[in-house]
Amino acid sequence: MSAPAGLPLDSDAIVKLAARSMFELFSDLAQGMMLVDRAGRVVWINEAYKKFLPALGFDRVEDFVGRPVEEVVPNTLMRHVIESGKPILVDLLSNKAGTFVVSRIPLRDEAGEVIGALGMVLFDHPETTLQPLIAKFATLQRDLDEARKALAQQRRTKYTLASFIGSSPAVLEVKRQARRAAQSGASVLLLGETGTGKELLAHAIHAGSVRAERPFISVNLAAVPETLLEAEFFGVAPGAYTGAERKGRDGKFRLADAGTLFLDEIGDMPLALQAKLLRALQEQEFEPLGSNKVIKVDVRVIAATSRDLRKLVAEGRFREDLYYRLNVLQVRLPALRERVADLEALAESLLEGIAVRTGMPQRELAPSALAALAAYRWPGNVRELRNVLEQAAMLTDNQRLGGADFTAILPAPAAAPAEDDPAPQSLRPLPQLIAEIERNSIESALAATGGNKASAAKLLGISRATLYERLAALKRLSA
Ligand SMILES: Nc1ncnc2c1ncn2[C@@H]1O[C@H](COP(=O)(O)OP(=O)(O)OP(=O)(O)O)[C@@H](O)[C@H]1O
Ligand SMILES: [Mg+2]
Repeated sequence: MSAPAGLPLDSDAIVKLAARSMFELFSDLAQGMMLVDRAGRVVWINEAYKKFLPALGFDRVEDFVGRPVEEVVPNTLMRHVIESGKPILVDLLSNKAGTFVVSRIPLRDEAGEVIGALGMVLFDHPETTLQPLIAKFATLQRDLDEARKALAQQRRTKYTLASFIGSSPAVLEVKRQARRAAQSGASVLLLGETGTGKELLAHAIHAGSVRAERPFISVNLAAVPETLLEAEFFGVAPGAYTGAERKGRDGKFRLADAGTLFLDEIGDMPLALQAKLLRALQEQEFEPLGSNKVIKVDVRVIAATSRDLRKLVAEGRFREDLYYRLNVLQVRLPALRERVADLEALAESLLEGIAVRTGMPQRELAPSALAALAAYRWPGNVRELRNVLEQAAMLTDNQRLGGADFTAILPAPAAAPAEDDPAPQSLRPLPQLIAEIERNSIESALAATGGNKASAAKLLGISRATLYERLAALKRLSA
C-alpha cells in the first residue's frame, strides 16, 4: 500500500505536521496570538495582535514584549495556565481594551515540562461578532422568563390568602400572622388538625412573599418511604448508583433554591434524617448522595404537622434543636368546630367548587342544613366538610339541601352513657365491643370521605396499611 502523495508515513512526522498546520490555522483565524515563557513574560505576539496594543496603553511592540504578562494584559490567566499546566480552552476576558473570547494552552517541551503558554484572542467584541448567537440566547431567555412569570401568576391567583375562606376572629388572626410570615423570611411552623388548611396557607404565605415568582416545592414526609427520603431531599450525584438513578437527580433542596420548601407532616420525619436536615437548614448547603461537592442554596422553609410536636420532642422522637429552628414563626390553625361562624361561607365556596367540577347547578343550604352541620364535631375539618357536601349533592337532586339530607351522611355522635346508666353495653365481651366500635368508626370515616381510604385512614389516625388490614379482618368476621 502506498501512502497518499505528500503525507509522511511515520506518526511523529504526522503529528508534527498536524501541529504546524493547526498552529498556522489558528494564527490565521485568531484575532491575535501571544506566547509567554515559563516566567510569565511576553516573548512574542503576532502581527494581528498588534492592533490591540493602543487600547492596552502601548505604542510600541518593544514596550510590550519582555514584560510580565499581567502587567501588560490586565485580568489575564496566562500565569495560571503555566502554573497548573491545564489549558483554558474558551474563556471571556474583560479589561480596559474590551471583552474578548480567548483560549489559553500550556506549551510543553519534549520531556513534558511546561515551558510557557500560548494565548489566542478568538473573537474581539463578542457582543457584535457573536451577535446571532447572543440574540438567539436572549430570545430564548426572554421566552423562558415570560413562561415562568405566567406560571407563577397562575399559581398566585390560585392560592392567595383570599382563597383561605373565613372571617371569624380566629381566622382573621391566622391571616394576620400569615401576612406577617409572608413579609419575613423566617421559618414558619403551621400547626393544626388534619384538613384545617395548613397546605393552603403554606401556598398563600409563599405567594405573598418576595419569593412568589420562584418555586414552591413540597415534600410530604409521611408519603415518602424512609429509605428514599435522603435522596428526595438532597438528590443523587450522577454515577452514584446504577439503574434509573445512574444519571443522578436533583433533590428538593436544590429545586427549591431561591424559593420555598414546604415540609409537610414534619412530625413524621425519621430521627436519623433530622440531624441532616437541621444542618442543611442552618448552613444552607448540603452534599448530594454519592458526591462530596457542597451545593449552596437559599431556601425558605415552611413546615406543617397535625401532630403534637412538643410532645414528640419530650418523648425524644423529635430533635429539640430542629424544633426551635422550624418554630420561629408559629401559626396555629383553628379546628372547624372552633369557628362554626365560618361554616356558611366555607360551605358556599365549597359548593361552588363542586358545581364547577360536576357541571351541575350550585346547591344552597337551608337553615336546617346549617344547623345540622354546626352540631357536628368535624374531626376531618374543612376536607371532611367538602366530602360531606359532595355526598349530599350526589344523593339528592334538590337544589336546596336540608338538614335531613345530612343526617344520613353525618356519623351520629357517639352516644355518651348517662351518669346513672347501668351501661349494659359494657357488659358484653370486650373483644366484641371493640370490634363494634372499630367497625362503626371505620364505616363513619369511609362515609365521611366518600369511600376514600387514604383520607379515611387519616381521619382515624392510622396508616393506610392498617386500615386495609382492619377492613379485611372485619370482612372475615362478618363472613
Ligand atoms: N379556610 C379554607 N378555605 C377554603 N378551603 C379550605 C380552607 N381550609 C382548608 N380548605 C380546603 O380543605 C382541604 C384540606 O386543606 P389542606 O390540605 O390545606 O389541609 P391540611 O391542614 O394540610 O390537612 P392535612 O393535615 O390532612 O394534610 C383542601 O381542599 C383545602 O383547599
Ligand atoms: Mg396537608
